[in-house]
Amino acid sequence: MLAASRGIILKEMKPKSPKDRIICFCYNISEQTILEAIRSGSDSLMAIRRDTYASSGCAGCSEEVKKLIRKYAEEHKTKVG
Ligand code: FES
Repeated sequence: MLAASRGIILKEMKPKSPKDRIICFCYNISEQTILEAIRSGSDSLMAIRRDTYASSGCAGCSEEVKKLIRKYAEEHKTKVG
């Protein structure tokens, strides 16, 4: 791949906002999608897997998904499963 082509591809992949960043590369699931699921009541890793498929492939994003769940719970003083 030409360096110029790679630069264009990387620029196009750059998230428009921090919440557009991809968390789960297996299923191309963004932080925004995971946060929407959390706001809708998905309060555990299993619930996020069920509702978004994030973390149901290689599970390499599991820690990042759990961090988002914990962060939301801390910000909203809710208990997480
Ligand atoms: S990166 Fe999320 S399941 Fe593989």
